[in-house]
Amino acid sequence: MNPADMGDDLERVLLSEEQINTRLDELAEQIDADYAGKDVLVVGVLKGAVMVMADLVRRLHTSVEMDWMAVSSYGSGTKSSGVVRILKDLDTDLIGRHVLIVEDIIDSGLTLSWLLANLRSRGPESVEIATMLRKPDAAKVEVDVRYVGFDIPNEFVVGYGLDYAEKYRNLPFVGTLAPHVYSA
Ligand code: XMP
Ligand code: MG
Repeated sequence: MNPADMGDDLERVLLSEEQINTRLDELAEQIDADYAGKDVLVVGVLKGAVMVMADLVRRLHTSVEMDWMAVSSYGSGTKSSGVVRILKDLDTDLIGRHVLIVEDIIDSGLTLSWLLANLRSRGPESVEIATMLRKPDAAKVEVDVRYVGFDIPNEFVVGYGLDYAEKYRNLPFVGTLAPHVYSA
C-alpha cells in the first residue's frame, strides 16, 4: 500500500518507509554489538509487532530464536488500562535466556511494564525492550527501554503493524488518519 491507495483516509505521513528502514539498520547494528556472542530469544508482541519483528531480525547477525506473545489490555477503544490478559503465551522456557521484547509502540507504558514484570518472573538471564515507536507525552509509567526507533507526538497512528479497527497494518509507513475515518 502506498499513500495514494488511501485516498483521503490519510491525514499525513509521519515516518516514511525510508526513514523506518534507515532506523532499523541503526537499531540492528546496536543490538548486534550489545549481544555479540550471545543467543537471543526475540519475543514479538502480536499483532502490532509483526512488521518490526520481521524487518529487525532479518538485519541481525546475532543468533536468534523467535517466539510470540499476544496480550490484550482490557479497556475500551484506543486507551490502555494496564490490566493485561495473556491471549497467547510463549512456547519457550525463559530460564537463563537473553530475552529481547519487540514492540510496535509504547503509549502509556502500562502494557509493557506489566509484560516486563511477567517475563522477568520467569528466570531469564536478561530482558530488554526494543520498540519502533514511543509516545513520551503519553507515558503513565516509566519503562526502561533499551532500543527506541522513534519518539513521536501523542497522536493515534497507524501503519507498519499498527491498526485502526484491524486495518492499515500493511502500510509500509506510519501515518495519521483523517478525522472522518474515526467518525464513519
Ligand atoms: P500502552 O498504553 O499500554 O499501549 O503502552 C500499548 C498498546 O496500545 C496500542 N496503541 C496504539 N495502536 N496506534 C495504534 O494502532 C496508536 O497510536 C497506539 N497507541 C497505543 C498498541 O496495541 C500498543 O501495543
Ligand atoms: Mg491495536
